[in-house]
Amino acid sequence: MITINEHYLKLRASYLFSDIAGRIARFQEEYPDREIIRLGIGDVTRPLPKACIAAFHKGVDEMADDATFRGYGPEQGYPFLRQAIAEHDFHARGAAIEPDEIFVSDGAKCDTGNIQELFSTDIKIAIPDPVYPVYLDTNVMAGRTGSHADGRYQGIVYLDSTKENGFAPEPPKEKVDLIYLCFPNNPTGSTITKDQLRRWVEYARNNQALILFDAAYEAFIRDESLPHSIYEIADAKEVAIEFRSFSKTAGFTGTRCAYTVVPQECLAYDKSGNRHSLHAMWNRRHTTKFNGVSYPVQRAAEAVYSPEGKAQVRELIDYYLNNAAIVRKTMAELGYDSVGGDNSPYIWVECRKDSWDFFDMLLRKAGVVCTPGAGFGRCGQGYIRISAFNSPEKVKKAMANIKAALR
Ligand code: MLT
Repeated sequence: MITINEHYLKLRASYLFSDIAGRIARFQEEYPDREIIRLGIGDVTRPLPKACIAAFHKGVDEMADDATFRGYGPEQGYPFLRQAIAEHDFHARGAAIEPDEIFVSDGAKCDTGNIQELFSTDIKIAIPDPVYPVYLDTNVMAGRTGSHADGRYQGIVYLDSTKENGFAPEPPKEKVDLIYLCFPNNPTGSTITKDQLRRWVEYARNNQALILFDAAYEAFIRDESLPHSIYEIADAKEVAIEFRSFSKTAGFTGTRCAYTVVPQECLAYDKSGNRHSLHAMWNRRHTTKFNGVSYPVQRAAEAVYSPEGKAQVRELIDYYLNNAAIVRKTMAELGYDSVGGDNSPYIWVECRKDSWDFFDMLLRKAGVVCTPGAGFGRCGQGYIRISAFNSPEKVKKAMANIKAALR
């Protein structure tokens, strides 16, 4: 008899964004003529930067020619891209990350979801609340939690991210083994200072713990005092893995390209306390289960680092940040407190009501899709997340509709 992984039965029925997509589809069936403005899932709306498109085309042309055609590439990514990443994303910020520590992949969602395979099932995990659901759900699937009660899984150490702590929790008093952090944060849009991040690195070093640092939104940082990478903190290479993505940086959500940094120094332990290289383990996993991002896509990603690419990416991010400013201003005018939106594409709005009710109300009365905060965890109750990924025209229209609905 074929039997199932019963840990799946502990999961909520569907993934948050699939659940929301279902609600929107039902609404559209009911009201086929109503215009809907999507400020929900963080999916980009603008085309790839011109520099990336040119490189992409050139890569495709090379695949059409006997002399330049390529079959399987290195699973970890082509040297040209790993070199460009190391130089521009890390060396330029004083972080000593080398190309062979970079693993190019098809998405930070997959990597943040898959990384937990490297660890034993009885480790103690700390996960922020609210949180990007992938971190939690993949650990539930792997059997690292008990059942779900009162909006929480047993066995997880939740790091409450609240108004009181500026949505940047401090390390817990108790000992944990694996810590998920995401800054600029999804969903709250909050940021972390170097001092705060240093305390996490110290905590991990003192507890033989590991930090999984999701920096998918670093390109949105405009406050130069904020860290773009955890490796800007001394000694972080021993205790941190970092995830990056070209999705939000350069509009690659539909093109798929990301990378994970696993430093050579990064260690974990077996039951006898022997040290093991996580770099070697991730390399083993990556080469066994992944066959590389396509050559033209990696050429397109490399172009992000050309002078034109950098300027175009900056302009692209500014475009979304301007939208974010419009959202924050409107919500403030309406008397709603919010955070995020200045170094992040997400605005976390205190709606002072049940978040799913507020979500439904905005959809029905304003035709605007947001994301209910409660979908990201218990601490998200009473909040909604508004994403800046749309055109300024649509964002302005959405804000006008919301004003009319709420007044
Ligand atoms: C989000 O809306 O939180 C993101 O789109 C999720 C993702 O990048 O997978």
